[in-house]
Amino acid sequence: MNSFDIQQLQSELAAKNPRVILKKALELFDNIAISFSGAEDVVLIDMAVRIRKDIPVFSLDTGRLHPETYRFIEKVRKHYQIDVDVLTPDRQVLDAFVKRKGLFSFYEDGHQECCGIRKVEPLKRKLAHLDAWITGQRRDQSLETRQDLPEVQIDSAFSTEQHRLIKFNPLLNWSSAQVWDYIEAYQVPYNELHQKGFISIGCEPCTRPILPNQHERTGRWWWEAETKKECGLHADNLKPDKQ
Ligand code: ADX
Ligand code: SF4
Repeated sequence: MNSFDIQQLQSELAAKNPRVILKKALELFDNIAISFSGAEDVVLIDMAVRIRKDIPVFSLDTGRLHPETYRFIEKVRKHYQIDVDVLTPDRQVLDAFVKRKGLFSFYEDGHQECCGIRKVEPLKRKLAHLDAWITGQRRDQSLETRQDLPEVQIDSAFSTEQHRLIKFNPLLNWSSAQVWDYIEAYQVPYNELHQKGFISIGCEPCTRPILPNQHERTGRWWWEAETKKECGLHADNLKPDKQ
């Protein structure tokens, strides 16, 4: 793994446009991958393949995604001719969880346990073999949890003493409108759900369409408080008093 001063890199990348941040990330790291959710973060893939054709991409298949999202992941795979590493939860743990609590326990006692099994554990397994990862998080996605995001950071949630993991957030300064301008301008494929009123897209039982004047994350885990709306992939966004 390259050694560099993270503060210095952050100063260099502050307020830069997504392409510059991506280019730097791919220059610094070979063992890096894009975390693709099957939503508008496809923009990252579109930019990255122009820099590195064989860009590694992975997606967390919780088993509860919308059919449209599965179709979209496949469309992206074919369109860009890339491999998408589709990661699934540990079968034994998942089977035991569903047997114990059923398929909709998150409506009763919160999304953390289900997300922990279906998303966080597979992600943790994946990240253990990477030096850096790239996410599509943006500041405008949440006033509560994403306002202080840096362009690059040491991933405090998934780094260990032996393994320092770097996380890049190239889209963080873009608004949703800028992402959609790019999608239109470059004819980037997009998830059909965006035509049905969905903006932020996660799992089917935990995502719903929103009204035009509502904030995009209103449609995610709508029965929970704004401050809790991180599923553990980005646990480092949660301030200790909000966990
Ligand atoms: S979440 O934490 O609330 O689920 P969000 O949907 O805002 O995350 O997505 C932010 C970024 O997290 C995405 O751009 C993507 O990089 C990553 N991400 C979220 N869900 C997934 C997923 N199912 N598979 C891979 N990456 C994901
Ligand atoms: Fe489970 Fe909902 Fe989290 Fe998906 S978003 S892993 S269904 S709690």
